[in-house]
Amino acid sequence: MKKEITLHDKTFIPFIDKAAISAQITRIAQEINRDYSQKKPLLVGILSGSVLFFSDLLKQLEIECEVAFLRVSSYKGTETTGNVKKVLGLDKNIENSEVIIVEDIVDTGITLENIVNDLASNNPKSIKVATLLFKPKAYTKNYPIDYIGFEVGNEFLVGFGLDYNEIGRNLDELYIIKKTMLNIILFGPPGAGKGTQSELIQEKFNLTHLSTGDMFRFHMKNDTELGKKAKEYMEAGNLVPDQLVIDMIDAKLSESHDTKGFIFDGFPRTTEQATALDELLAKKGWEISKMVSLEVDEDELVKRLLLRGKDSGRKDDQDESIIRNRMAVYDNETAPLKDFYSNQGKHIGVDGIGSIEEINERINEAIG
Ligand code: IMP
Ligand code: MG
Repeated sequence: MKKEITLHDKTFIPFIDKAAISAQITRIAQEINRDYSQKKPLLVGILSGSVLFFSDLLKQLEIECEVAFLRVSSYKGTETTGNVKKVLGLDKNIENSEVIIVEDIVDTGITLENIVNDLASNNPKSIKVATLLFKPKAYTKNYPIDYIGFEVGNEFLVGFGLDYNEIGRNLDELYIIKKTMLNIILFGPPGAGKGTQSELIQEKFNLTHLSTGDMFRFHMKNDTELGKKAKEYMEAGNLVPDQLVIDMIDAKLSESHDTKGFIFDGFPRTTEQATALDELLAKKGWEISKMVSLEVDEDELVKRLLLRGKDSGRKDDQDESIIRNRMAVYDNETAPLKDFYSNQGKHIGVDGIGSIEEINERINEAIG
């Protein structure tokens, strides 16, 4: 598939490839062959979007069937108008027919409801619906959809019959609209108030907060496959391998595809993880916007942590040499990451000393 395509003013990136589309169409054809083995259905293709799906499906039907087409129109750009126009009516008498409506995509269901009502008034024996794509989160109707190729999110799609202002229908694979997201990595040494700042940024920019620590705890608590694996390593006193952390991030990215962006807190920690993260994001057409690192004068930080140690009783905050060692570990870990993101022109250092509000303002400015 092409890495990116431009249609009119918008950019689209690969979403579902040929092989996956074809596998689902074959499955639907098999189901129809089975369900209609004693019947002779009338396939009603909804023009223009369903043409590719219709033709691939039809080729795989082994039962006797008839075809007809109906043309409606409701979309303008990437928004449904909710106003369905019948542009071309059926040229067939469908009384007593076993109708299967064939759609490219069911979104709000307004179009489908109109079509069903229209056809139903002509007294067919039955009406079923087959659609290549279904947007369950956008669907506002209760009418059942009998055959579904893929359930997808609300993002705008093109290709395989679907258009963006009349172009893109000829693409033989599905593409998804490329979103502009704000994906921030927040770095900071121990005691810099990274957690607090993450929360403030998350609220202000409406981002999804991804903390690997929280995620591990969630997966272990819920005893997921990932959680079980992580536990094995942790119980043996070993570090959880990069791949496991990355799988966990991947799962989270996939379930949050509606978000405006992410704030990564505590991840990535190594250039290997940073490379893997770039690859994961690229698969979805996303990328890191900025890596913000809170810069804190070491002596000042040591003073602060010692103070915190007195108040909280936290052992690792009470011993200056332990604190200095943590700083050294942090410097060793993050220095290469700063280079990694500097090379991409994405690293920004922010003065991390001051009040929560002051630091927050500096971060907001850095993010822009
Ligand atoms: P509905 O009436 O909201 O269900 O919209 C159905 C029609 O909207 C479909 O037949 C398509 O023509 C169009 N549509 C919905 N979602 C998309 C999309 O992601 N890409 C292209 N067209 C879409
Ligand atoms: Mg359509």
